[in-house]
Formats: sequence, structure tokens, C-alpha cells
Amino acid sequence: MDQNKLKQAAATAALDFVRPDSIVGVGTGSTVAFFIDGLAQRKDTLRGAVSSSEDSTQKLQAAGIEVFDLNTVSELDLYVDGADEITPQQHMIKGGGGALTREKIIAAVASQFVCIVDQSKQVDTLGTFPLPVEVIPMARAYVARELEKLGGKPVWREGVVTDNGNIILDVHNLMIKNPVALETQLNQITGVVTNGLFACRGADIVVVGTAQGPQIHK
Ligand code: 5RP
Repeated sequence: MDQNKLKQAAATAALDFVRPDSIVGVGTGSTVAFFIDGLAQRKDTLRGAVSSSEDSTQKLQAAGIEVFDLNTVSELDLYVDGADEITPQQHMIKGGGGALTREKIIAAVASQFVCIVDQSKQVDTLGTFPLPVEVIPMARAYVARELEKLGGKPVWREGVVTDNGNIILDVHNLMIKNPVALETQLNQITGVVTNGLFACRGADIVVVGTAQGPQIHK
């Protein structure tokens, strides 16, 4: 079955978690684009959304869904986002689309994080997908040297500027045995804004698009 169909099936199944008259946290990426399409169909039952990227904001507004500033929202019961890799412990690598920092902020605020993926994203150990790290531009070379000391091979995502005006280093060659410890350690490097490990705050629910239909893991 084609990967987009599996992404769409996961995204559609996640619509069941959206409460009427609520504000929903919306992630970024191709799987989330299907989720936004689904939200658009029921926009009259929704108060609106908070968005993790300029790209998703544009898609939500084009669908006629109001986008709120996160600072004006004191409680958020649901955040729906994709992932680049996810383990059975519901730890993730995210940031393939470069939106990791805003994604992590919304995930921190939300009571429930529903991750939507196709089955190709499921792994036992994180690290085959290069780990994105968002870095203040003037710290790029310093942070790269520090990442090399940890055994990683950082590659600058040249030409990409994040929505926050920063750069991304994609770190190859990491086999991540302890995602919580590595997430914490990487955030201690001066100049790192955040890294794409979502382990300290993982997903609460995972909806996986499979050839047999969507599966829900709690
Ligand atoms: C963007 C992300 C995405 O959730 C992740 O890259 C998965 O994307 P897709 O749904 O297109 O496979 O973290 O920063």
C-alpha cells in the first residue's frame, strides 16, 4: 500500500481525538497535512488551532481555521503531529521538516500528544534517521565540534533557515540507546536551541497507518 495512503489513514483516525469546540495543537509535515484536510471538513465544530510552523499556519488559514497565538491559550488538551522515527516506548525523532522547536513547545503545553505515523516510522532504536538539532547561527561550528565529540557526524542543512531564524545540523551515526539522557545532554550545549529527540516528553498515543488499517497504541 502506498505510504501516503497509510499517512492519510493515520491522520483520519486521529480526528476522533478532537473534542468539539476545542483548540487543537497542530504539528508539521505531510502526515499532518492530511490531518489539516480532515480538520477542514469539521471546522464549524472547532474553535481553532495553534500551529507549530508557518507552513501549517498557512494551510490552516487556507482551510478557514482560526490560528491562535499559543500565548493566548492557557490550556491545550490535544497536540497532533507526525514523527520521523518512533519506538515502542513512544520516544521519537522529529524535525525532518525543521519545525522541531515550535513542535516541542506545543507538545510541552498539551495534555495529550497523539503521534500519527505510517508503519515505516516504527523502529526499535532511534538514530537511523539523522537527528535534527536547531542551532543559533553563530554557534554552528562550535556546536558541530561538540556533537562530533559525542560520536555524531553533524551535517549542516545548508540553505534552510528555521521559522525562528536559526540553522539545522542533522546528526548522523548516532545509535541512541538512552534517548532521555541524550535529549537532556544535547540541550546543555551552548548555542543549541533544541534537539529533535522527543523522549522526555514522548507521545501519549500513537496512531499507526498499516496495510491492515490504523492501529492505536496507548
Ligand atoms: C517536522 C516533523 C514531522 O512531523 C516529521 O518530519 C514527519 O514528517 P512527515 O509526516 O512528512 O513524514 O517533525 O518537523
